[in-house]
Amino acid sequence: MTNERKSIHGEWSNRLVFILAATGSAVGLGNIWKFPYLTGENGGGTFVLVYLLCIALIGIPVMMAEIMLGRRGRQSPINTMKMLAKDENRNQSWVWLGRMGIVAGFLILSYYSVIAGWALSYVFRTGSGMFIGASTDVVNGIFGDLVGDPERLLAWHTIFIVMTMVVVARGVKNGLETAVRYLMPALFALLLMVVAYAMTTGHFMEGVRFMFMPGKITNAGVLDAMGHAFFTLSLGMGAIMVYGSYLPRGTSIVQATMYIAIADTVVALLAGLAIFPIVFANGLEPGAGPGLIFKTLPIAFGQMEAGTLVGTAFFILLTFAAWTSAISLIEPAVAWLVENKGINRLYASMYTGIATWLLGLGTVFSFNIWSDKTWSIPYIFKNYSFFDTLEKLTFNLMLPLGGLFIAIFSAWCMREASSREELDTSRWIYRLWQILLRYVTPIAVIIVFLKAIGAINS
Ligand code: PHE
Repeated sequence: MTNERKSIHGEWSNRLVFILAATGSAVGLGNIWKFPYLTGENGGGTFVLVYLLCIALIGIPVMMAEIMLGRRGRQSPINTMKMLAKDENRNQSWVWLGRMGIVAGFLILSYYSVIAGWALSYVFRTGSGMFIGASTDVVNGIFGDLVGDPERLLAWHTIFIVMTMVVVARGVKNGLETAVRYLMPALFALLLMVVAYAMTTGHFMEGVRFMFMPGKITNAGVLDAMGHAFFTLSLGMGAIMVYGSYLPRGTSIVQATMYIAIADTVVALLAGLAIFPIVFANGLEPGAGPGLIFKTLPIAFGQMEAGTLVGTAFFILLTFAAWTSAISLIEPAVAWLVENKGINRLYASMYTGIATWLLGLGTVFSFNIWSDKTWSIPYIFKNYSFFDTLEKLTFNLMLPLGGLFIAIFSAWCMREASSREELDTSRWIYRLWQILLRYVTPIAVIIVFLKAIGAINS
């Protein structure tokens, strides 16, 4: 019976389109903006190692599970969970997993869009040649001026939200394919060019050592590494589940997941290799926080041959990568509105776009007029800026929690016959997947949570 379910939103035309779309969702600001600054803040090597372990042992099996649930339910995450809970004779409260995911996607997009706006604005900053030969101070100043100006941030945030909602309104299947098929490889090529430049700085090995030599890590750092494994693979909130719901039968979920996870990880590591040598060559601080790539890459573009051209192209492609991720962040919410509220995609996109834009104002202001204002969530976080609060809430809490429940549902609550049929893989891969989801993911997530709570309250 489940085999005949069809998505009312249509299907990907083939397997390649799905892989491209899911890679488009996975590869984004998480890889190029976030991974380097988290690595820098958490002291390098050990963080990278824990992140890679989390990708292999938690991220990959959870991604297979999400695609599988989506393809079996064929609806938005909320309705998919409702349907599957019924199929498997489980409690209807599993719909809360879908609900939490939709809220997480909405919260994440509200700040993701502001950061994507930075990338977009750097297209024009780099294009105007203002970084040619610029000193570290000048580059820092340009970044400071941007984030200090609420009007400019607001304008870029607005443009990015509109771009995202236009694509979502037309249906994610139209347009995504070209964007990902040509632009992702181009982004990859430009990253390689920056890595090549980084090799000429004389500090390349220092960057490599920073990234791969194990050192110290805090409990909060381990929590960051785990959260990042979910974030960078777009897991724990239903984005990959909803993309899975458009996946035609007969596609190998295991194989598709491996392609996506490998592409995503390679891009992140390349971004690190591009950025850290520049950090060390210019005496910058690896722990500079969210501004890290905007304070380092322009120095490279200002010095390298044809840097204005390369830099402009780079920020254009980074914006595209962010765009294809942003679309997947809001698709679960839009799919649900279309299914349950009887409105068409255009209106569903408009409403969610406006709501996300409004919430994004908080992040815009947290870098300037609200920079002294702090927020707390009782028992969870104390005294963070608006941006940090949203970011930590989603990244450190909601995504791992979503991943934990996805693991529990697919490996403990679903009948083996169902998951086996859907995954359709060899016996030992199935068993490995099951063991990782049954034991490794839940235990790891719970231990990391408990330790992090200890760290926050100590
Ligand atoms: N994976 C995206 C990135 O790395 C972000 C994202 C998270 C997208 C969750 C969808 C869902 O930028």
